[in-house]
Amino acid sequence: MEKKRFYITTPIYYPSDKLHIGHTYCTVATDAMARYKRLQGYDVMFLTGTDEHGQKIETKAQEAGVTPKQFVDNIVEGPKGVKDLWKLMNVSYDRFIRTTDEYHVESVQKIFKKMYEKGDIYKGKYKGKYCTPCESFWTESQLKDGCCPDCGRPVVDAEEEAYFFRLSKYADRVRDLLENTDFLQPRSRVNEMIHNFIDPGLEDLCVSRTSFSWGIPVDFDSKHVVYVWLDALFNYTTALGFLNETYSDYDKFWPADVHFVGKEIVRFHSIIWPAMLMSMDMPLPKHVYGHGWLLLDGGKMSKSKGNVVDPYVLAERYSADALRFFLLRTFPFGTDGNFSNELLINTINVDLANDLGNLLSRTTAMADKYFGGTLSEAQAEGDEDAELIAMASALRDKYEAQMEKYQMQNALSEVFNVIARANKYIDETAPWVLAKDEATKPRLARVLYNLAETLRICGTLLLPFIPDTCTKIFEQIGADADLTTWEKAAAFGVLSKTATLHKGENIFPRIDAAKEIAELEELENAQKAKAQAAVAPAIEVEPQTTEDVDFDTFCKSDFRAVKVKACEAVAKSKKLLRFTLDDGTGTDRQILSGIHKWYEPEALVGKTLVAIVNLPPRKMMGLDSNGMLLSAVHTENGEEALNLIMVDDKIPAGAKLC
Ligand code: MSP
Repeated sequence: MEKKRFYITTPIYYPSDKLHIGHTYCTVATDAMARYKRLQGYDVMFLTGTDEHGQKIETKAQEAGVTPKQFVDNIVEGPKGVKDLWKLMNVSYDRFIRTTDEYHVESVQKIFKKMYEKGDIYKGKYKGKYCTPCESFWTESQLKDGCCPDCGRPVVDAEEEAYFFRLSKYADRVRDLLENTDFLQPRSRVNEMIHNFIDPGLEDLCVSRTSFSWGIPVDFDSKHVVYVWLDALFNYTTALGFLNETYSDYDKFWPADVHFVGKEIVRFHSIIWPAMLMSMDMPLPKHVYGHGWLLLDGGKMSKSKGNVVDPYVLAERYSADALRFFLLRTFPFGTDGNFSNELLINTINVDLANDLGNLLSRTTAMADKYFGGTLSEAQAEGDEDAELIAMASALRDKYEAQMEKYQMQNALSEVFNVIARANKYIDETAPWVLAKDEATKPRLARVLYNLAETLRICGTLLLPFIPDTCTKIFEQIGADADLTTWEKAAAFGVLSKTATLHKGENIFPRIDAAKEIAELEELENAQKAKAQAAVAPAIEVEPQTTEDVDFDTFCKSDFRAVKVKACEAVAKSKKLLRFTLDDGTGTDRQILSGIHKWYEPEALVGKTLVAIVNLPPRKMMGLDSNGMLLSAVHTENGEEALNLIMVDDKIPAGAKLC
């Protein structure tokens, strides 16, 4: 009988920097799902790869003094590059696509042309905002506080001749897809998409650029390169051979069962991608799952801040299995999670060294000690065995129910509940007491047999997560490959009653937490210092272009020292702070200032600032502002930086500055 098929993908990564733990998270999750489906007997296609075009790569290559292709080759194929990392992490992808691969380029050109010929891509003029780091176009209304709604960084004005995709034409069908099917998961992401993008109205999408050249040329209009997201999204089909001769798996695997993607690219996958597929009259993927981010100290990891966690360091120190396990056991897949070294080490110590490791070493050590490894014929089950056997027998179905919902952390919790039950069972049955009397030896054999069976079942279900470790477990409990299948994970009593166990190496030695955390911190500080030195802030100050003023005019400006009595954010405004100031007159002065981005209001109370107090009053958000606080402004790494002018607290409120 032909096997059932399963096609799963990760996002294809930007090789603009080395990958960090956040990227590893998604790939390891995909790998666990792919291994799970293989375990179930599916014919699996697991695709990953790299998304290598776009302005950001072009700029980075220029800075590095190499061609864009050399630049990406190094990050993808070079030492400790993307492919090396996946090898280290035991990622079992079936195919790796690079968007610079010739077959992909050829397919994308054909796709672009088809959509053009259909009338779904047309030529127009692009006017709007562009976020260079995200390679995203935005309309004014989509910006958040004037910045990119995805990454919060400043956008630039852009105007050029461009091709557009008629995204608006597909708005109703996309809405229906999101609202009335389980295409996008978890459900909370649907509300975000409808509210933020569909309800305000979908506008046509600019899908070509002329201001840089590192992209796939539009073959019938070669001054244009294809917008990087159109190029990237179609990787999921070109890698199967869609419109190229390199592969021939399109009919076999398309549509994909699921695309795993991070939350910030859900928009591309759940709105733009289905609309493009509709335009191409292609079937839609069955699911898109938008997972959360791994945060560090509550914020996004950023290479330039040096606060990225290096998966290499952790996998080399604690093993790929430990890191894989930690990532999938700790963080619910659909929401953000805070990474910390403490959590990592604690999870390894508690779950892997203590619970799983001890269960294995106690079971095998007792088999060695009391039976010389080979169990004698075991007694029939006793009452004390019922709960453990029932839990272990029911485990596979519970685990499956969670895995089918991509809730890997819950699937692992189910397994670890059974492991905890088995450890408790050892305490309850006290094998060391049974060992004292020949008459209770058959009972002892039953106890150890039940433990070995529990380990076999748990080990089988842990295969997608910690494959290397499971091989060691099977070897120590004497379970051959034909006993560790999906079918046999639902049956208790599969191992031979006279199985031979042996105590092997400790699968997860306990980690000295305090020592390790100190060492990791040291490594991280060194990394931060290096990143900060490498990215010495590019500071720009505005050139002086103002006209001269005569002295008398200058003297008309009334600058005063003012003390902040109270400061609070203005409701419904992201920018404005409302200051209540002592200006020395005995009457409070109110000034509004758009500086919330740089200051938390409570941090300013008590400070002595400088205000110009003889400006005419202005209304902002319905409130009066009487004057303006002075600050120093410059640009740092392309972002506006602002510092309020603070003066010595000895200066009394109302003192005139001249
Ligand atoms: N090239 C695009 C994807 C194109 S898919 C057709 C891209 N690349 S990326 O390298 O920037 O990000 C790849 C994935 O890594 C995204 O799903 C992103 O959410 C994920 N992560 C990057 N940092 C992350 C965390 N800190 N935590 C979890 N995942 C995050 O987007």
